[in-house]
Amino acid sequence: MNDQERQDSVRRIRKRIEIHVGLAIAALVVAMGVGAAGFVYWGAYNVSALQQHTEPVFTLLNLALDRSIRQRAEEIEVPSLTPDMAEEGRRLYQARCVQCHGAPGVGRDDVGKGMTPVPPNLAHTAKAKSAAELFWPIKHGIKMTGMPSWQFKFTDEQIWTIVAFIMQMPEMSPADYQALRGGDAREPPRDVTTVSASAPARAAAEPDPARGKLALYGYACIACHRIPGTVGPHSDVGPPLAGIGGRRYIAGVLANTPENMVHWLRHPTEVDPLTAMPDLDVTEQDALDMAAYLETLK
Ligand code: HEC
Ligand code: HEC
Repeated sequence: MNDQERQDSVRRIRKRIEIHVGLAIAALVVAMGVGAAGFVYWGAYNVSALQQHTEPVFTLLNLALDRSIRQRAEEIEVPSLTPDMAEEGRRLYQARCVQCHGAPGVGRDDVGKGMTPVPPNLAHTAKAKSAAELFWPIKHGIKMTGMPSWQFKFTDEQIWTIVAFIMQMPEMSPADYQALRGGDAREPPRDVTTVSASAPARAAAEPDPARGKLALYGYACIACHRIPGTVGPHSDVGPPLAGIGGRRYIAGVLANTPENMVHWLRHPTEVDPLTAMPDLDVTEQDALDMAAYLETLK
C-alpha cells in the first residue's frame, strides 16, 4: 500500500465513522422526540400543584427567573424611596398582595397556600434583590407562576411605593407591622379600585394599539374572547372579535364608533344591564388603547 492508498483508506474510514455517528445522533433525537411526545400525549407528566418539580428542575427554573429579572431590571431607573411612600405602599400591599405573600406575622390566605410555585416571603426576597429587581416582576408579572402583572392596576409611582414598603420588610417585626396598621388586625383592605381610578394611569396619550394589545392580556379579555393577534384559551364565552373593526354595531346595540367602543369596554353593564360581559374596572386610557387595537381588526 503506497502513501496515496493509505490516505484514501483513512479518509474512507473517517467518512464511514462520521455517517454512523450522524445516524446514531439522528436516531437518538428521534427517539427522544417520540419519548417526549408520548410522555405528553399519554399524560405521564403530573401537573398537580402539590407535586413539586425535582430539585434540579426547581433550581434551573429559579435560575432562569432570577437571570431574566436581573437582565430586565438593569435598565430601570430607581427614584428615591421615602418613608411616606412606604406607608402608601403598605396600604396597597395589604389590599392586593398579602393574600398570596403574607406579611410580617400575617399568614397567606387560602389562595396563597396551595400554589406551586409558592409565593415567596418577600422579606426574604428583599434581602437578595435590588429595588429595580422588585419593581420589574410587580409591573410585568411572572409567566407560569401565578404572579399577576399589576401595570394595568397600579401606576409606576404606586408600584414604587410598594417597593419602598417591601424594602423595609426585612427589618419589620410582626409588632411593627401591626403598629403600622394602626393596631387593628381586622382593618378592612382599602379599596384600591378607587385609588387607581383616581390616579391617572399615565399621562393622557395618543391611543396606542400596541399597548392596547397588551391590555387585552392585562384585563384577561382573552379568557372570554378569541382575538386575532393574541394567544389564549380560544374560549367562546364572548363573541370572537375577528373583524370587530369593520362591524357596524357593538354587541348589537351601539353604533361602532371609537367613543362608543371606549364606553362599552369601560361600562358594558351601563349599555346593557343584562349583558354577560362584566365591568372590568378599565381606565379611560386603557380603553382608548384597546379600542385602537380592536379598530385594526377589519
Ligand atoms: C395570586 C397570588 C399572588 C398575588 C396576589 C401576588 N403575588 Fe407576587 N408572586 C406570586 C408567585 C406565585 C410568585 C413567583 C414565585 C417564584 O417562582 O419565585 C410571585 C413573585 C413575586 C415577586 C418576585 C419574587 C422573586 O423571587 O424575585 C415579587 C417582588 C412579588 N411577587 C411581589 C408581589 C406584590 C408587590 C404583589 C401585590 C401587588 C403580589 N406579588 C401579588 C404570587 C402572587
Ligand atoms: C367574562 C367574559 C368576558 C370578559 C372577561 C370580557 N368579555 Fe367582552 N364580551 C363578553 C360577552 C358575553 C359579550 C357579548 C355581550 C352582549 O352581546 O351583550 C362581549 C362583548 C364584547 C364586545 C362586542 C362584540 C360584538 O360582537 O359586538 C367587545 C368589543 C368586547 N366584548 C371586548 C372585550 C374586551 C376588550 C375585554 C377586556 C377588557 C372583554 N371584552 C372582556 C364576555 C367577556
